[in-house]
Amino acid sequence: MERVGRREIECAVAALRRGGLIAFPTETVYGLGADASNRVALARLYVVKGRPPDHPVIVHVGDTADLDGWAAEVPDPARRLAAECWPGPLTLVVRCAAGVPAEVTGGGETVGIRVPDQPVALALLRAFGGGIAAPSANRFGRVSPTTADHVRADLGDEVDIILDDGPCRIGVESTIVDCTGNVPVILRPGGVTRELIAQLLQRSVSVEDPGTVRAPGTLKSHYTPRAQVLIVEASELWAQAENLLAARRRVAVLAPAPLPALPDGVVALDSPGGVDEYAAVLFARLREADGLDADIVLAVPPPDTGLGAAVNDRLRRAAGRGNEP
Ligand code: TXA
Ligand code: MG
Repeated sequence: MERVGRREIECAVAALRRGGLIAFPTETVYGLGADASNRVALARLYVVKGRPPDHPVIVHVGDTADLDGWAAEVPDPARRLAAECWPGPLTLVVRCAAGVPAEVTGGGETVGIRVPDQPVALALLRAFGGGIAAPSANRFGRVSPTTADHVRADLGDEVDIILDDGPCRIGVESTIVDCTGNVPVILRPGGVTRELIAQLLQRSVSVEDPGTVRAPGTLKSHYTPRAQVLIVEASELWAQAENLLAARRRVAVLAPAPLPALPDGVVALDSPGGVDEYAAVLFARLREADGLDADIVLAVPPPDTGLGAAVNDRLRRAAGRGNEP
């Protein structure tokens, strides 16, 4: 731990016990945490986040063994994924144990659980002892925060403590796997790849069509910067940019390195080198584009395999307002 010491962890634990809200880093994005057993704290979490009350929140725990305390049953595939991927960017949806607050489950019979792979998050969870319910620490509908400054910009004074441990390593949210049916289904692509899940379960795994909206936060246009996002192939960049410039739009470009030549007047956002870096910087770059008052971000997608699938999922959602019929 570099920036967060024992003292800060103790303060955060005390705040949680008082029913407060804290922001903390995970390997994916920053979370806005509340004691998952405190209904008053959970109610405030929804208000501060601006989130509809029927959206469930993920319970973060400090140890794989904690899964059994929150789940009514743990099917074999969930057990295997937990053993192989935790701590890590994977959320398992299982039937919930009796007594899990409705504010956590969104009123349903399942609960999403994960053990994050981030030293400050683990120190916090182990010092606290219980589960910490935490959505991403952005205001509802905004892109997730990958730095403490993003959290401050979105939630500012409404959180009691922000544990700042620098930028998140992975940068896109956890993969959500629904393990309550006959076969596990990916509800949200994320930090653990579909390929790895298939390999661990020794079967192919489907990704649920976001159009069916089973995980409420997977609404089509959930991740929306102010600027409109258009997904374009590198070969179309020049022509698209010229058209938009001619229409007096302020255009930013996000593309993997090496960045193709661009017409004068286009704002080139720093290019990520590979797909891991693309994931790590995606949300920060979209916020930067807003800061630069871009009307439109032309985004060149990475290949759709591995972590690229999660990046493309977020790009499509960010484009939800502009690209879709
Ligand atoms: O990486 C992450 O998952 C981050 C960090 C902070 O852990 N958290 C995060 O939380 O992305 P949030 O609330 O922004 O997104 C969680 C998603 C939502 O779409 C929610 O609907 C879904 O998980 N979810 C939570 N519990 C669920 C459940 N029981 N069944 C189906 N979906 C669930
Ligand atoms: Mg979120």
